[in-house]
Amino acid sequence: MGQYSPLVIEHFEHPRNAGVMEDPDGEATVANPVCGDRMRVMIRVRDGRVAEVRWQTRGCPPAIATSSFASELVQGWTLDEVEALTRERIAEGIGGLPPDKIHCSVLAADALRAAVRDYRSRLGRGT
Ligand code: FES
Repeated sequence: MGQYSPLVIEHFEHPRNAGVMEDPDGEATVANPVCGDRMRVMIRVRDGRVAEVRWQTRGCPPAIATSSFASELVQGWTLDEVEALTRERIAEGIGGLPPDKIHCSVLAADALRAAVRDYRSRLGRGT
């Protein structure tokens, strides 16, 4: 684990917001196109902002750590802010990732953006 920042190790060893949410307002499961690792994310939305995040990730230590970090990062964000979330923001926020692990931060960013899209599509369907 010596290649990882202290924050990556800390989130990997003590993941925040891991688990399942009952009746989420939006959810998505995405696979990392590079390695096939997967993340499911569920969000609760209140007053146009992210009120709660839960996630389940099957992946490498940076995938777990960035899932945890991102779930805390977006608390209270507007949906537009989440849709503008980039993997660079996550990778930099967590103290950097080794070059061959940069792709691991894609998972959390993609999954959160997809969960917001799911929420918006549910609104469009009136559910
Ligand atoms: Fe797959 Fe890191 S190796 S997300």
